[in-house]
Amino acid sequence: MANTSSQHALGDAHYPATHRRLRANAHIRELAASVTLDYRDFIQPLFVDESLSERKESSGMPGIFSETLESVIASVGNDIAAGVRKFLLFPVPSGKSHHPHGADFDFAALVVAAVKRRFGADVWLACDLCLCSYTEHGHCGILSADGARLLNNETVYTLAEYALRLAEAGADCIAPSDMSDGRIHAIRTVLDANNFDHVAVMSYASKFASAFYGPFRDVCKSAPSATVQLQGRTTYQLSPFNLSDALASAERDITDGADIIMVKPAVPYLDIVTRLSERILAPLAVYHVSGEYAAIELLAREGLIERRAGHLELWTSFKRAGASIVISYAAREARGWIQSL
Ligand code: PBG
Repeated sequence: MANTSSQHALGDAHYPATHRRLRANAHIRELAASVTLDYRDFIQPLFVDESLSERKESSGMPGIFSETLESVIASVGNDIAAGVRKFLLFPVPSGKSHHPHGADFDFAALVVAAVKRRFGADVWLACDLCLCSYTEHGHCGILSADGARLLNNETVYTLAEYALRLAEAGADCIAPSDMSDGRIHAIRTVLDANNFDHVAVMSYASKFASAFYGPFRDVCKSAPSATVQLQGRTTYQLSPFNLSDALASAERDITDGADIIMVKPAVPYLDIVTRLSERILAPLAVYHVSGEYAAIELLAREGLIERRAGHLELWTSFKRAGASIVISYAAREARGWIQSL
């Protein structure tokens, strides 16, 4: 009689345990791990808004506050107690203009100076460098008179002036997020010429035109205006369809003097992180952006996932992809969460 049931067909076949021995308990899983999480690799973004008289929670990012010049000091103090030493500052000025310059950067310089005066070398303070919170139209640079395009040269010139103000105020690192061409070279040149050769540059080199920046733009009042011809940021941020541009922009920025290269957003672009980690020697930072953070927080609020586990799993994917630095809105949780693993 022919064997028809599969069970019968398997007969006395033996299925030896092979890989599961490495998963059998926490000890051997730790030994077998190829990546680890370290809270010291994390950077906490900070928002400081000139127009506020009291700190205010973001509507799109639960638990994330816009600080005032006073409250940011207390907030950084709390973060230090939680194990955070590295910060990425986003100053939000109260006024906007068509062509920002000079005095418009006073508030940003004030915040940097206040944080560094209070905490000195206990903190590493990077400051985002972009004009989108400063311009009436919300684009990341100076617009042509007809509003049809961003003027690269004028924008780079203004950004270099702004970078110098931040360095004079005591910033440890300048982090340009505008995506103008040539700004890394311009910033490095201006810093070096003014005795700020010790100030680092972290380039948002591989920054994509993304749907995940929404909550951030609410906080920074930096959404690009739909009334100008130039819609969205697709004429200066990277296209998700163009892999080689993302790699070439990063390589160009290293040649131009960037110390750290950033990929942003994180989850949709982990392939870029991996490819860059195989091509360049500079440390790679990945930015888990506002919309990505909010996605986890909102799922957690609905009871659909566990907040801690969600963030930890994504952070692990960043490390596996090849990132050494993680910029996360939940960085202040990193030490506690990682210790509890
Ligand atoms: C400014 C800037 C943006 C982010 C960082 N710097 C927004 C944008 O480019 O529109 C996004 C950060 C986030 O979403 O968390 N150019």
